[in-house]
Amino acid sequence: MSRITTILYLLLSLLPIFALSDDGYNAFVYAGCSLPHYDPGSLYESAVDSSLASLINSAVFTSYSNFTSPSTSLSALYQCRSDLPASVCSSCLRAAVSQLSALCPSAAGATIQLRACLIKYSNESFIGKPDTTLLYKKCGAPAASYGGDVIGMRDAALGTIQASGGAYRVGGAGYVQAESQCIGDLDTKECSDCVTVAVSQVRSACAYAGAGEVYLGKCYARYWANNGYHPSSSSSSYSHEDNNDETGKTLAIIIGLIAGVALIIVFLSFIRRAGSEKD
Ligand SMILES: *[C@@H]1O[C@H](CO)[C@@H](O)[C@H](O)[C@H]1NC(C)=O
Ligand SMILES: *[C@@H]1O[C@H](CO)[C@@H](O)[C@H](O)[C@H]1NC(C)=O
Repeated sequence: MSRITTILYLLLSLLPIFALSDDGYNAFVYAGCSLPHYDPGSLYESAVDSSLASLINSAVFTSYSNFTSPSTSLSALYQCRSDLPASVCSSCLRAAVSQLSALCPSAAGATIQLRACLIKYSNESFIGKPDTTLLYKKCGAPAASYGGDVIGMRDAALGTIQASGGAYRVGGAGYVQAESQCIGDLDTKECSDCVTVAVSQVRSACAYAGAGEVYLGKCYARYWANNGYHPSSSSSSYSHEDNNDETGKTLAIIIGLIAGVALIIVFLSFIRRAGSEKD
């Protein structure tokens, strides 16, 4: 964990293009690039390229895989949401690799998390080591706007994922749903420990929010209130904000229409007056 502090995580969450363009399995969550870069044409570069290619190829067989290259000290892994079919995993990893090369060109280490998959590589050894470093968090609109005891349901839903086992966990209470995913290099106990930290962090960071998510080094936990919005597997957690966007758009259209009609009336009365002055 202390070694990883040498990596500066540039949170590229300021890239709404990715977030808006795709709200499904391949939706962008966060990415981080190391400051050190590798030299173009180096052995390390070809190790990175071939490891990413080989990771994509394993997605057909498994939702988690790792790759190490002893000659260059490169380690790499991916983790797809482990309940999803291989086709979704492959497509997600492809999208992640193509975004990674755009976001973190020649970075010695990088992490990218899309909604359904994560890729991480580094020249510092990290495979098999628990890591609860906070990498990304986001909270949705206040729960009060949903009605009902959303916070109570949230705590119960998070409780169910904490109590269950497995790398991917899903649970719900009332109309709040929660899910968590560990990276496959953690054993059962390490995964539970990581989920416990993620749950307590999302609970405190998003204390009164109707949706929230916390991504740690080796696991994440998130929850969202459905309340009439269709849940889907995607980032519907922020549908409340999207809904506000829609309201804003509608309002802008109405204001535009009113302004347009007013302009026409002014224009017509001007023509009329001009006409009557001639007479
Ligand atoms: C990782 O690579 C960078 C850039 O080549 C280098 O500065 C750093 O010392 C390397 N770290 C390790 C642990 O090899
Ligand atoms: C890394 O992958 C190998 C197979 O390629 C697997 O046997 C090993 O358990 C994995 N290690 C970890 C820590 O996940």
